[in-house]
Amino acid sequence: MTALAGLEVGAQGFGGMALAEVYGPTDQDAALATLHHAVDAGIRLIDTADVYGRGSNERLVGRLLRERRDEVVLATKFGFVHDPEPGGPRFRGDPAYVREAATASLGRLGVDRIDLYYYHRVDPRVPIEETVGALAELVREGIVDRIGLSEVTADELERAHAVHPITAVQSEWSIWSRDVEARVVPTAARLGVGFVAYSPLGRGSLAAPVTELPEGDLRRNFPRFDPERLAVNARVGETVRALAEREGVTPAQLALAWLAERGRAHGIPVVPIPSTRRPERVDENLAAVDVRLSAAALAALEPLAGLVEGDRARHVDDISQGRERRTAVAG
Ligand SMILES: NC(=O)c1ccc[n+]([C@@H]2O[C@H](COP(=O)([O-])OP(=O)(O)OC[C@H]3O[C@@H](n4cnc5c(N)ncnc54)[C@H](OP(=O)(O)O)[C@@H]3O)[C@@H](O)[C@H]2O)c1
Repeated sequence: MTALAGLEVGAQGFGGMALAEVYGPTDQDAALATLHHAVDAGIRLIDTADVYGRGSNERLVGRLLRERRDEVVLATKFGFVHDPEPGGPRFRGDPAYVREAATASLGRLGVDRIDLYYYHRVDPRVPIEETVGALAELVREGIVDRIGLSEVTADELERAHAVHPITAVQSEWSIWSRDVEARVVPTAARLGVGFVAYSPLGRGSLAAPVTELPEGDLRRNFPRFDPERLAVNARVGETVRALAEREGVTPAQLALAWLAERGRAHGIPVVPIPSTRRPERVDENLAAVDVRLSAAALAALEPLAGLVEGDRARHVDDISQGRERRTAVAG
């Protein structure tokens, strides 16, 4: 059983975001069936956030929890302002908001405790010590069991961990997104903090070709999926698919097995949380936990992230990539 700083979660979790219709339509009863299938298949860690589907994803997970609370490690997040004013703050980490957001999430989820509560994006107006201090209070009250941080820099992680032990960092990490390997991952490994890898399939692009994006598809927000870069970046997916065929696995399995390999290389537990609307893909993705890649495949995958054009986010300072880059320049 893979553990994040002592929290047993299994080698792979399930990301709930695709069930909030960000990458294509889904019906909420079918989405619930997919969640049940994930738990039936042995997945314990279910990941959601207050912002996914503007609360609807937490309500969906709440329907699962009504029947299976004891089988699930429940992770959710706060920090995105749901309806930001033009030019106003997009993230909030002030103590009053931490409590307000947690109370609202508990209501939507229909539970009295969140197992792992993540600060989703760092509010640049609030020192991270203050936000984590407010989270620590929720831990003392028994509303939250463990604290996680999403898209923090190595320095922010150190400062937060000094206030209260952090169980996991959740940030983007995959064959085509490796900036966290420079400082965030080594720092987490040193502090004994686990790593939850989000978008482990490159928001689908490593597993299957992503060509045209319909109106409303979340990927339109990311520079890598801009029409002028799509063709160049598609080369990464093409190489992944060719290598997967040679290894006798599916492209998604190769992408997930690669993350496990990187975790071993860095000496840190890495739990990917792929997301899918389709039960059969839950099984396909979960089977990756038994896959070991050849040295030749690992060597061929090594340069791929360097070929990618475009940052991981349009406002790159919102995520660790931009703030780490500024630290490196200043240093
Ligand atoms: N902390 C954060 O800021 C943050 C940001 C993004 C995501 N996340 C979390 O991480 C989770 C995963 O990230 P993600 O959803 O962005 O990206 P992902 O898991 O890399 O990719 C999801 C996409 O891949 C497709 N897919 C899944 N399995 C597949 C397979 N075996 N073969 C082919 N295609 C497959 C899905 O389509 P189908 O539905 O059609 O299968 C979906 O469009 C999210 O659900 C969320 O919980 C967190």
